[in-house]
Amino acid sequence: MTEYEGRVFARLREFEQTHRARILAIETSCDETAAAIVENGRRVLANVVFTQIPLHVPYGGVVPEIASRSHVQKIGPVVASALSEAGLALSELDAVAVTNGPGLVGALLVGLSYAKGLAYAAGLPFLGVHHIASHIAANYLSDPDFKPPFTCLVVSGGHSHIILVEDYDRYRLIGRTRDDAAGEAFDKVARVLGLPYPGGPNLETLAETGDPDRYRFHSAFNEADGFDFSFSGIKTAVVKRLYNAEQAGEPVDRADLAASFQRTVVEILAEKAVRATLAQPGEAGKKLALAGGVSANRALRAALKSRADKAGIALTCPDFAYCTDNAAMVGSAAYGRLLGGRLDPLSLNAIPYLSIDTETAG
Ligand code: KG4
Ligand code: ZN
Repeated sequence: MTEYEGRVFARLREFEQTHRARILAIETSCDETAAAIVENGRRVLANVVFTQIPLHVPYGGVVPEIASRSHVQKIGPVVASALSEAGLALSELDAVAVTNGPGLVGALLVGLSYAKGLAYAAGLPFLGVHHIASHIAANYLSDPDFKPPFTCLVVSGGHSHIILVEDYDRYRLIGRTRDDAAGEAFDKVARVLGLPYPGGPNLETLAETGDPDRYRFHSAFNEADGFDFSFSGIKTAVVKRLYNAEQAGEPVDRADLAASFQRTVVEILAEKAVRATLAQPGEAGKKLALAGGVSANRALRAALKSRADKAGIALTCPDFAYCTDNAAMVGSAAYGRLLGGRLDPLSLNAIPYLSIDTETAG
């Protein structure tokens, strides 16, 4: 056993007795450099997020090389700010956790390498965390009594999944998008409407002034039974509507188009999520959580709430601060992994395409 392994096992033995852990968590999977310190999976002692959005605005989307370079520049100061916000030294922590996938590989590697260095230097247990597991765990930060089992709708820029959360570290995929993620569809439609990156929140703002009944977008795939989604066809229909109107010299109300698109997508998400929840056994059939960047969308929250209420399902949503990428949610998910006795070696790699049920199979 190496000296590092000896120190880690001593820490783990302590954790097994007390179940207490202050975890330093790092997130660099896309365009946010984030570090947080979370106590026992629930209490956020520090949460620092440096967003790269202004760097990517000129390009209308995330440029991977720019993202990686900015992470390299910011990771040190962001981690130092989190430690000082919590008033803690590295030696007072119990574990280091980091997102190791899915995400942009160059971006992931920055956080992963930094986290490994810290864990090794301080002799702390090291954990790699799945990005979707982190988004799901954002709900544990917002509601201290919320716990598995439950059904979760995860909607972000890279993912649209319905997941049965059986335990803190056990997931089963119930449904997923067959093509674009919901956030990706928001971003692409926003772009053709001439809205700046990131499209989702800007499209939501524009939609607030529009008429959601003005345009109709049907989607046979989404109307069918089953829990998978498809957003690519709806996105294309919006783009075509705009293009055809422009070609014909007809006026198009952009706000109405945004509102109609948003309404179509949120109704599909809400309908499928509620139906999928009702199909789950026991408590998971009565509890639905929302997660991922698109969970910040108020129209989606309202559509889910109204359908969940009618179906007798309790809905939980993360606080707005924990909807888009942050490291506090990573710290909470990592605590769940520690409770499940999981730990990762310092040889852990970044995995750009990491599926959530493969990850929990072992
Ligand atoms: O979870 P997240 O920060 O990053 C990924 O893991 O992908 O999600 C970012 C996505 C983007 O597509 C963004 O446009 C979308 O979430 N988003 C929204 C809203 N806020 C963020 N989409 C719709 N309405 C919002 N208010
Ligand atoms: Zn995310």
